[in-house]
Amino acid sequence: MNSTLFLQSDVSNPYLIYKTMLQNNPVYWDESNKIWAIYSYEDCISILKNPQAEIPVVNQNNEQKLNQKALEILNNLTRLSNGIQHETSKEIAMLLFSKMKSVETTTIISQLIKDNLTENKIDWVNSVCKKLPVLVVLKSFGFEEKDSDFISDRIETLVKIMLPQKTEAQVKSINEISSAIFSIVEKQLSSLNFYESLIVKIHESNSLSPDEIKTISISNLIGLFIQSFDAGRGLLSNSLLQILDHKTFSNRTEIEKSVIETVRFDPPIHNTRRIATDDFYIGESQIKKDDLILVVLASANRDPEKFENTLDFDIERNSNNENLTFGIGGHMCLAKYFSIHLTTEALWFLFDNYKTIQLLENNIQYEPMINARLPKTIWISLQ
Ligand code: HEM
Repeated sequence: MNSTLFLQSDVSNPYLIYKTMLQNNPVYWDESNKIWAIYSYEDCISILKNPQAEIPVVNQNNEQKLNQKALEILNNLTRLSNGIQHETSKEIAMLLFSKMKSVETTTIISQLIKDNLTENKIDWVNSVCKKLPVLVVLKSFGFEEKDSDFISDRIETLVKIMLPQKTEAQVKSINEISSAIFSIVEKQLSSLNFYESLIVKIHESNSLSPDEIKTISISNLIGLFIQSFDAGRGLLSNSLLQILDHKTFSNRTEIEKSVIETVRFDPPIHNTRRIATDDFYIGESQIKKDDLILVVLASANRDPEKFENTLDFDIERNSNNENLTFGIGGHMCLAKYFSIHLTTEALWFLFDNYKTIQLLENNIQYEPMINARLPKTIWISLQ
C-alpha cells in the first residue's frame, strides 16, 4: 500500500517514497485516507494555481471548541482564507510585512548562543532555531523585550492553532494563551505610526468597519509569528545539516547558495492541502468537487523533469530557486527572501565566528508532523 499521509518521525527517508510515487503514481488517489496526492512539479503548480482548488476549512463550525479570541485569530488568518476574505487579509498581511524594520540579526543570534552554550556544546534547534525567526519578527515591529519573550515562549503552543485536527490538550492550551497574546499585539500595533493610515487605506477600499480591520490586522500580525515559527526553525536546522554534510561554508555567498539548495533538496515544509470546489481534471485523473488534495511540494522539488541530477545537492544548479517550497500562486509565501536572508545571516555568523563546528548526533530525530520535516534537536560543538 502506498502511504501518502505519514509522520515524518516515522520515516527515515521520505524522498524514497516521493521518488517511487513520482515514477509510478504522480497523481494518486489514496483510498484509505480519501485524499489525492500530487507528486510531480507540473501538476503541483497546476493545483496551486487552480482557483477551483481552495484552502480547506480548519475547525468547521468551531467543532474544536476554540474560545472567542482563538477563533477570531484563526478565522482571520490569510494563510487559511479564500476568495474575497483572502484578498483583504493578504493585503493587510503584506502591508504589515512591508512595515517591518530591519533589525540586527547577529546581535540576537550571538546572545542566544551565549545564553545556551555549555562546555562548547549547544542544541541548535532549541537554542536558536525555535527562537531566532520569531524574535526577529517581533523586534522588527518594536515589541518590548518583556512582550517579545512572552510571545516567543508561547508560540510553539499557539502554532498548533493551524492543525486540521487538534487534541483536547492542544485546544485547552491555545485557549489559555490567545487572549493575552491578542491584547499584547493590539497594544503594540496601536502604538505604531503606520497603523491608523493602514486602517484608513483598507477602509477606503473595502466595506469593512475600522474595528473589523483592526481584528484582521492583529490576527495577521500574530499570523506572521505563527508562520515564521515552524518553517523558519526548519530552514535554519536543515540548512545547517546540509552545509555540514557538504562542507559548503567557506564564505557568505556559498552559504546563501546552500540555503537556497536546501530549500529545494531538504525543505522544512513538505506538503500543503487543498479542496476541490468543482470537478476538474489533472491529466487523465478526474478530481471531484469536495475531494481533498495533498500537494507534495518536497516531491515536486525532486522531479527529474524539472531539476537535472535531481538527487544531488548541487549549490551551482541554475534552477534551484524555482523550487516550490514557498508555494506558488495566490497563497505563495510572502517571506521567501526574508527567510533565505535570515537563515544565511545566522549561518554565516556561525561559520564566521567558530573555526570548528561539529555535529554531535548521527541519527537526527524528526517531529511527529505530517506537513513539515523538522529536526527535534541538533547537538553541535562550537570551537
Ligand atoms: C522559513 C521558511 C518558510 C517556508 C518554507 C514557508 C512556506 C510557506 C508556504 C508553502 C506557504 C503557502 C501555503 C499554501 O499555499 O498552501 C506559505 C504562506 C505564507 N507564509 Fe510562509 N514560509 C516560510 C516562512 C515564513 C515567514 C518567516 C513568514 C512571516 C514572517 C511567513 C508568512 C507566510 C504567510 C502570511 C503566508 C500566507 C500567504 C497567503 O495566504 O496568501 N512565511 N509559506
